[in-house]
Amino acid sequence: MDFRFTEEQLMIQDVARRISREKIAPSAEHHDHTGEFPLENIRTLGENGLMGIEVPAEYGGAGMDPISYVLAMVEIAAADCAHSTIVSVNNSLFCNGILKFGTEDQKQKYVRAIAEGKEIGAFALTEPQSGSDATAMRCKAVRQDDGSYVVNGKKSWITSGPVAKYIVLFAMTDPDKGAKGITAFLVDTTKPGFHRGKTEPKLGIRASATCEIEFQDYVVAPEDVLGEEGQGFKIAMGVLDAGRIGIASQAIGVARAAYEATLEYVKERKAFGKPIGAFQMTQAKIADMKCKLDASLLLTLRAAWLKGQDQKFTTEASVAKLTASEAAMWITHQAVQIHGGMGYSKEMALERYFRDAKITEIYEGTSEIQRLVIARNETGLR
Ligand code: CAA
Ligand code: FAD
Repeated sequence: MDFRFTEEQLMIQDVARRISREKIAPSAEHHDHTGEFPLENIRTLGENGLMGIEVPAEYGGAGMDPISYVLAMVEIAAADCAHSTIVSVNNSLFCNGILKFGTEDQKQKYVRAIAEGKEIGAFALTEPQSGSDATAMRCKAVRQDDGSYVVNGKKSWITSGPVAKYIVLFAMTDPDKGAKGITAFLVDTTKPGFHRGKTEPKLGIRASATCEIEFQDYVVAPEDVLGEEGQGFKIAMGVLDAGRIGIASQAIGVARAAYEATLEYVKERKAFGKPIGAFQMTQAKIADMKCKLDASLLLTLRAAWLKGQDQKFTTEASVAKLTASEAAMWITHQAVQIHGGMGYSKEMALERYFRDAKITEIYEGTSEIQRLVIARNETGLR
């Protein structure tokens, strides 16, 4: 076992850290306050290979491995969680699925612009009545004689929905077959029949724009079916395995930012004649924060390493996502507490970290769903 990162991995971490510190961190408060989509920063990330980290260079990406993806995501999330949400959807939910299941034409047509950050990608699985229970979707795609499909229905909570050019969509092609009746499609949002709802106001990751989308007689050409008809649910689950590594990394980034701010504060702030970091109760919290951060990072790197070796990593990705997101929630909560009144103030970023961290326990499968995936895989029972 080798705990050292390669030169290439350290290089991409460095690039992500530099952009995060120079461009993303200084504008994070503004983006949180206004909810403005950070298009300029996304373009900069794209120009530096960070919107398609694992995408081969021939399709416009950086051609790096999953470990590099983790390292870059942590840096971006430490500067601003909302930016890392946009980055993760482009990288893992959009590009990854097309690279794994797409045809050569689909890779050429859809991946390049997204990997280069010139356009934004999205992933549409959830519907108003079906989130965790994803196979209960109602959005329908009906096959026509010429092999095209006509899509009707709604998808909700679509990250980057308000700005996406292309979307990986999941729709029911045979409702009688349940999970095996779902098919994946590639959607061009400039075509007729595609509609966007209003951007949702949210507790955190406010600069990541999310909305409902609707399809009204939207026509998908036969060459825009991703994978085989009926294979869509497996594609969605496979893509989410990789996505969960990204969300774990995001959770680590926001938790690290809260931890580092706390380490500074406990040395400076005094009470009862000493730094608050000298109190044993504070020290216990610092120690627990450190343990949770390290455990989260190691578990996430393990899942990423397995992915890079083309081994199955479903359980490991869920273990990483569950551990890191719950660690992020605990660490940001304790960081606010240790900062006292200042932790609650908008003068510091702590309250933003706390609000942003919460989403990591909800999207790409709630903590309950991660526990369900882990326990089902461990016991074989359901
Ligand atoms: N890889 C490949 N195939 C998989 C799989 C995986 N990880 N997990 C399940 N499958 C296959 C199963 O093998 C099964 O196929 P067979 O019948 O041929 O064996 C089929 O899929 C159905 O599986 P289940 O019976 O386990 O399905 P289920 O209805 O019980 O649901 C679930 C399983 C884990 C709860 C799943 O529905 C799930 O993950 N729900 C959460 C949804 C989610 O994460 N949504 C995220 C939306 S995207 C998002 O949130 C983006 C963002 O925030 C930025
Ligand atoms: P529900 O499924 O209704 O769950 C409600 C509660 O019941 C949860 O606590 C859940 O854990 C619990 N529960 C449900 N089933 C079980 C069970 N079997 N056992 C125990 N507890 C259970 N989706 C996309 O497709 N694309 C996106 O880009 C996207 N981006 C998002 C961005 C944001 C900001 C948000 C908030 C959501 C986004 N989502 C997206 C949707 C997200 O994946 C879902 O919100 C999430 O999967 C939970 O689904 P739900 O909201 O319908 O909750």
